[in-house]
Amino acid sequence: MRVVKRLDEWRALAEGLRRGGRTVGLVPTMGALHAGHRALIDAARRRGDAVVVTLFVNPRQFDDPADLARYPRTPAADLVLALEAGADLLVEPTAEAMWPRGDRSVTVSAGDLARRFEGRDRPGHFDGVASVVAKLFVVTGPCRAYFGEKDYQQLCVVRALAADLGFDVEVVGVPLQRDPDGLALSSRNARLSPTGRARALGLSRALAAAAAEVAPASALGERMRVVMEDAGVEVAYAEVVDPATLAPLDDAAAGPARALVAGVVEGVRLIDNGPVEVG
Ligand code: PAF
Repeated sequence: MRVVKRLDEWRALAEGLRRGGRTVGLVPTMGALHAGHRALIDAARRRGDAVVVTLFVNPRQFDDPADLARYPRTPAADLVLALEAGADLLVEPTAEAMWPRGDRSVTVSAGDLARRFEGRDRPGHFDGVASVVAKLFVVTGPCRAYFGEKDYQQLCVVRALAADLGFDVEVVGVPLQRDPDGLALSSRNARLSPTGRARALGLSRALAAAAAEVAPASALGERMRVVMEDAGVEVAYAEVVDPATLAPLDDAAAGPARALVAGVVEGVRLIDNGPVEVG
């Protein structure tokens, strides 16, 4: 596995892989790699891609400087995981290399999908994500890009980014990974105490409760909210939406939908989602 920091090397190596007949599989990450990231690398390898993992904690997607400062950073362990998972290239660009003009840099507006849920509660977050992902796409060049369904709204935003701006990138969604007790894997889980972790199970339990019944969207949303509150989660939202557009569903809607939940436990913001049926 090659490890590079410079954008010109990364661009040239990806180009070399394509010239050698390989499809490049891009796995964008902010580090603190865990089994969820490993699943992204595995998915790329299963499709025969040469895997390029990027590791960059993107300051422009954090609306809260304290959240950025607290974001876990485990570069040595990340190197081991990427190597063991079979990545071909690990890219660790500096903030100066990615954003030479800092806060004055050009920004990609993430559009209508970004205004609700995480976008409403974290102003500018998805513009920061869309901007950095656009840059990753440009430097890497034509590729398949793997994103976890854990960040379901992000996946929808990235699909729209690729389609609307015409990137030569196939966006692949990879199912989210859970601990055996149901907690969705997230780099943020490391900040929870054992008690907080137990409370955080309220999110996956809420989704399981919603998936176990077929009911109007608002009833499922209310059911999830109650389960989360009972578990001690400070609820940010608990809603059932159209799986492609994330538009709210009225109670006449019937069929497959997506349940999205978010909440705060011990000051840590957690999100989760899953398929449900409304009717
Ligand atoms: O999901 C993440 O880790 C980040 O939002 C991403 C896609 C790597 C962009 O910084």
